[in-house]
Amino acid sequence: MEITEKAPAKINLGLDVIGKRSDGYHELDMIMASVDLADRVTVREIPEDDVIRIQSSSSFVPLNKKNHAYKAADLLKKSFNIKKGVEIYIDKKTPVAAGLAGGSSDAAATLRALNLLWDLKLSLPELAKLGEQIGSDVPYCVYGQTARVTGRGESVRPITNPKKSWVILVKPEFGISTPDIFRAVDLAEISHPDIMALETAVAMADFPEMLAQLGNSLEAISIGKYPLIEKIKQRLLDSGADGVLMSGSGPTVFALCQQEKKARRICNGIKGFCDEVYLVRML
Ligand code: C5P
Repeated sequence: MEITEKAPAKINLGLDVIGKRSDGYHELDMIMASVDLADRVTVREIPEDDVIRIQSSSSFVPLNKKNHAYKAADLLKKSFNIKKGVEIYIDKKTPVAAGLAGGSSDAAATLRALNLLWDLKLSLPELAKLGEQIGSDVPYCVYGQTARVTGRGESVRPITNPKKSWVILVKPEFGISTPDIFRAVDLAEISHPDIMALETAVAMADFPEMLAQLGNSLEAISIGKYPLIEKIKQRLLDSGADGVLMSGSGPTVFALCQQEKKARRICNGIKGFCDEVYLVRML
């Protein structure tokens, strides 16, 4: 038997760094949304006991214990004393080290798929709780729908009927290491977007207010290290995007557009400037 789950990329409509914690992580307040750019994760039983085999369409995906999907399978095997072996195939569409939680979403899809394959009957909150042990973005990715996310990333409150729009994702050629960006956070210096106001705008489907409240505390730090991010933002704004922001710790920049025609025009225009561009919808 085999089971396939989608692993959608996420963007941060808002990301506020509230404080530093004693465990080395940061206290965050975020609005996260998933888009229809997704990896596909397929899990399949194999005859060899206690083997977790990772395969992927992409050479950027580690095929060893460092892989988040591997960690998800290992965690479930240990937690529920499962001896069976499994092969996990990751059909990669989301760019890696991009600020789009590609690896975390693969881990979340693996948790959901193995929950079915091994008939564990775990609820989404139970899978999200396990996901905390793999990475801070994994609990959100278990749900994969627009949500207010707080704490280290473990507290996820889905927003019902959120405002959806077209999204243009622009990924520069380089990747960014998230710990490098968090290490440079100076709480006295960073901007603090109003996440409460953003949540209200998203929940009320108030698009102009949602655009006005977009904000990411990490953006200025990543731009300081990689000025190309600012140039991409400016280009998207100049071509008429309704709103633009960097996602996560970057480097991917996203632009929001209400009208499909305009979104397609902006997407085609930016293609000459940056190679990796995707036109997607918020889920
Ligand atoms: O949890 P995860 O391993 O995905 O986090 C990657 C890195 O991002 C952490 O090692 C930490 O440096 C930083 N981080 C943080 N605070 C968070 C989430 C991530 O400082 N809430």
